[in-house]
Amino acid sequence: VTAQNSMVITADQPQSTISEHIYGQFSEHLGTGMYGGLWVGEDSEIPNTDGFRNDVIKALKELQVPNLRWPGGCFADEYNWRDGIGPRDERPVRINTHWGMVEEKNQVGTHEFMRLTELIDTEPYISANVGSGTPREMANWIEYMTFDGNSTLANLRRENGQEEAWEVKFWGIGNESWGCGGNMQPDYYADLFRRYATFAKDYSGNELYKIASGFSNENYGWTETVVEEAGAHMDAISLHYYTLPTGDWGNKGPSKDFGEDMYFSTLKRGLRMDEFVTQHSNRLDKFDPEKRITLAVDEWGVWTDPLEGTNPGFLQQQNSIRDALVASTTLDILNKHSDRVRIGNIAQTVNVLQAMVLTDGEQMLKTPTYHVFDFYTVHHNTKLLPLHLDAEQYEYEGENIPSISATASKSDDGTVNLTVTNLHASETKEVTADIRGVDLSSVSNARLLTGDAVDAINTFDNPDNVSPTDFNDYTLDGNNLTLRIPSKSVIVLRIN
Ligand code: AHR
Repeated sequence: VTAQNSMVITADQPQSTISEHIYGQFSEHLGTGMYGGLWVGEDSEIPNTDGFRNDVIKALKELQVPNLRWPGGCFADEYNWRDGIGPRDERPVRINTHWGMVEEKNQVGTHEFMRLTELIDTEPYISANVGSGTPREMANWIEYMTFDGNSTLANLRRENGQEEAWEVKFWGIGNESWGCGGNMQPDYYADLFRRYATFAKDYSGNELYKIASGFSNENYGWTETVVEEAGAHMDAISLHYYTLPTGDWGNKGPSKDFGEDMYFSTLKRGLRMDEFVTQHSNRLDKFDPEKRITLAVDEWGVWTDPLEGTNPGFLQQQNSIRDALVASTTLDILNKHSDRVRIGNIAQTVNVLQAMVLTDGEQMLKTPTYHVFDFYTVHHNTKLLPLHLDAEQYEYEGENIPSISATASKSDDGTVNLTVTNLHASETKEVTADIRGVDLSSVSNARLLTGDAVDAINTFDNPDNVSPTDFNDYTLDGNNLTLRIPSKSVIVLRIN
């Protein structure tokens, strides 16, 4: 145990609100993410409610998912919403050209998806087709969903079983329009965004929050051009960043059975989110110093090689304690930037990339990443607290990363919420926290998530291998909290 990690938290100087929407999820029509993972159909032997599996609904509801992005991703830019309404057995069969060239039978369409959002008690975030659609098609979808008066489209919605207009706020206009969404140039996309946004109307009191397609990683020029030319018409612009263990798209690295080299390089690459958010935000500051336009980090997470024996187009991977720590450290970064970042969506909810749950037939397990999202619910809609951290470096083969990452926040009732990650692969770390500006007397809800190895995972034979336990290794003396945090772990606690 070493004792050189200290933090000062100024609890009487609350900063930006940490929007709960930073903790959003993403479920694309991709592999078994939707079909099999969420939707099994009403006639399935797997217990379900209106076609959606009960075990997954329960797990997601408990996670307090604030918003769910759908139907893509790349899929969104080839989706026509009209394929997904009306009697299910009459819907067309399309080809999911991005993800495995499999049949898309459109069994989950607008009504089913909106039912899913009700079942897990979340807000929809719809990604509209700009790449292969038309402004009219998109405008019709908005009218169909949100107009509560008398029109042919609103009446069609009623005929299809939904009397009341739905409330839809988050509305994406294009996805990765520089890539799978149409391979556009920034000037061209900026014009298209202006055009589409013009026809994205607010009906019947519904107010759309229009999100433009931003870039991935460090292409800051795209952000600058799109915001300069179309910023007045948008509420947010997105940023995507995927963490590849090796950094190489041709050979991304494994999701299981790895050692400290892959553990370290994945964590180090994950931390680059700070640089990307900072730089995109700086570019936005040039045109929007008031921070009206927010950053929607609406795709992020660990992307590894697919599991052996699976369809490579299905993006199926395991999920380890390593990935859980990429989640906790990324969420710390997004929280820290919550003055600009108000939306986040990890990719993707079920069975795809860094998922919350994995399913196999009728079995389901919660991944280590699930538990991190569960811990971090304490920060939803709280105020970020200033946190000055002096942390030791974790050195591996001549490279360094900080060994500690943390978020402190304050709830309306004055509770201080703290999440702390020890990234070190093998050393327990002692961390002292001097919490100023409040009177403290007790700690509650202290929990720990760790693994017995850097690649510890949950399997259907051992689904609770990586799961939360009580955390007791702390002392609170006045306003001084001392934590002894095991290697490769994340803790949460609430202090009153
Ligand atoms: O999440 C998988 C894919 O990654 C999404 O469809 C796309 O937007 C991104 O390239």
